[in-house]
Amino acid sequence: MQFSIETSGLLAPLTATSHTEPELRPNTRRRALGTQVRTDCAIVPVFAGRRLGAAGNALDALLDGALTAALDRGDLADAANSVLLVPGNLAVQRVVLVATVAMGNDHGSAATKGKAKRKSVAANTTEDNSQANAAITERGFQDVCKAAFRAACATGANSVLSFLAEVAVGANNVRAIEWNVQIQVTNARDLSYRFDRLRSKREPRREPESIAIAVTPADATAAKESLHCSVAIADGVALARDLGNLPGNFCTPSVLADEAKALAKKSGLKVQILDRKQMEALRMGSFLAVAQGSDEPPKLIVLEWRGGEKGAAPIALVGKGVTFDSGGISLKPGEAMDEMKYDMSGASAVLGTMSAAAAMKLPLNIVAVIPATENMPSGRAIKPGDIVTSMSGQTIEILNTDAEGRLILCDALTYAARFEPSTVIDLATLTGACVIALGHHHSGLFTKDDALAQDLLRAGQDTLDTCWRMPLDDEYQEQLKSPFADMANIGGRPGGSITAACFLARFAKGYAWAHLDIAGTAWKSGAAKGSTGRPVPMLTRFLMDRAQALVQPAPIEAKGKKAPAKKRAPRAAE
Ligand code: BES
Ligand code: MN
Ligand code: ZN
Repeated sequence: MQFSIETSGLLAPLTATSHTEPELRPNTRRRALGTQVRTDCAIVPVFAGRRLGAAGNALDALLDGALTAALDRGDLADAANSVLLVPGNLAVQRVVLVATVAMGNDHGSAATKGKAKRKSVAANTTEDNSQANAAITERGFQDVCKAAFRAACATGANSVLSFLAEVAVGANNVRAIEWNVQIQVTNARDLSYRFDRLRSKREPRREPESIAIAVTPADATAAKESLHCSVAIADGVALARDLGNLPGNFCTPSVLADEAKALAKKSGLKVQILDRKQMEALRMGSFLAVAQGSDEPPKLIVLEWRGGEKGAAPIALVGKGVTFDSGGISLKPGEAMDEMKYDMSGASAVLGTMSAAAAMKLPLNIVAVIPATENMPSGRAIKPGDIVTSMSGQTIEILNTDAEGRLILCDALTYAARFEPSTVIDLATLTGACVIALGHHHSGLFTKDDALAQDLLRAGQDTLDTCWRMPLDDEYQEQLKSPFADMANIGGRPGGSITAACFLARFAKGYAWAHLDIAGTAWKSGAAKGSTGRPVPMLTRFLMDRAQALVQPAPIEAKGKKAPAKKRAPRAAE
């Protein structure tokens, strides 16, 4: 599936009279357009009152009024995200109409509605307040994209031309073309994702070869820049999903290490894989304690992207890479234990993010640290009550071997300090308690650093890959007290995701630090089960914003506030 930006006169900014043009001069207009548009399937948004935008009106003229006729008949269902497939002609073979909002039940006569219908919604102007208010929400736009691309892909069209850039999105129509393109690309890719490599027979894929996104000439440059970044993010998400979906008998720590090596080769990253011996030399007693029960050798994967200034402090990403979490001697119940193959989703999201950052050539130094191991019961496995010494020198009483994520992450956090990072972010499917607290919509965000929290929260909102800030007060540290060691590895059921974060906080020293608990967001259960690739979009956006800040430092007074996307300088990436 290949994406491109197509500059289209059909989307030309509306003037006071342009919307009446198709009616006034249908033949000249049609001839002019006919040479411009050629696609197997156009995606055309429909606005409140069953009105078409500029592109829709132009296509309608080209198709002898087929679109307005279908709308007049009421063929497009009332609900937002409804779709209607309308046959076209030789140049535009089909049109998928998609309702951007609830259409309402205004099945009035064509005569009374005709005028209003042909009045285009000014999707890209903010002058008129009533038009700005017509902007839909970010989530609303995502749903529109999903519905439209699903319908277009189901037709068997080989080429798709989307006019969804004419939809106004966000409070005060704040979402610029870059954002619009990114949401279209990532959602189209998400929809067409399949994990079928382990089937003996693969169903033939029915997906368009090319998806073109139509934009106005004025938006073309920004849209092309964004397309490059959007594809990089989509590729990163796909990599994370592939690794997440790969079951434990395929995705071992060694295989994760091989994947990291392959990525490094492809993307120009530095890679280093530390084996058990090297980790013993580093005295990673906590990580190795978890690994000792498994027949699969543990790996510490270290990747470096050096796109920034020489000597500039890196940002470190630390990802939990438990390739299967049985719970160890504190064995998990059997139900849904298969889902613990996803317990390396922090690791796969770090790899996906590194892939995206490298593809964009971000002018940053970024280090990835991934402790990879299985958590298994065996005669050699750690037992509840065992006390181990972490790389930091702090001792830990392991009261539950199923709280293994923090045991491997603590040594990775200590190791990360060697790179003298300015900021460290760890990602982990760390606690079931986080799923109870936040469900499956937001990742849990834990940090004492307000500025870092704001940056991550905003990156989440911008990518619709959101996180929600949780407390991290020292009061919770009490629950980790042990009479026999410096700390216990569990803090009891109350605030389970918070005490897990508090445990990590004891090792995250010497840099700004945030922890993301992605237990509820990294994969889906049920019929549509599978890895989501989250939070690759959020993290990549966070890194892009950091790179952007180097080029255009935020004014002090505006710190924490979002600069309107439209006014941003060209992305540092390009
Ligand atoms: N990988 C799990 C967390 C998890 C469980 C994520 C279920 C998603 C769904 C983690 O290693 C774990 O087992 N955590 C324990 C901690 C407890 C023993 C303190 C948990 O959440 O039950
Ligand atoms: Mn566990
Ligand atoms: Zn786990």
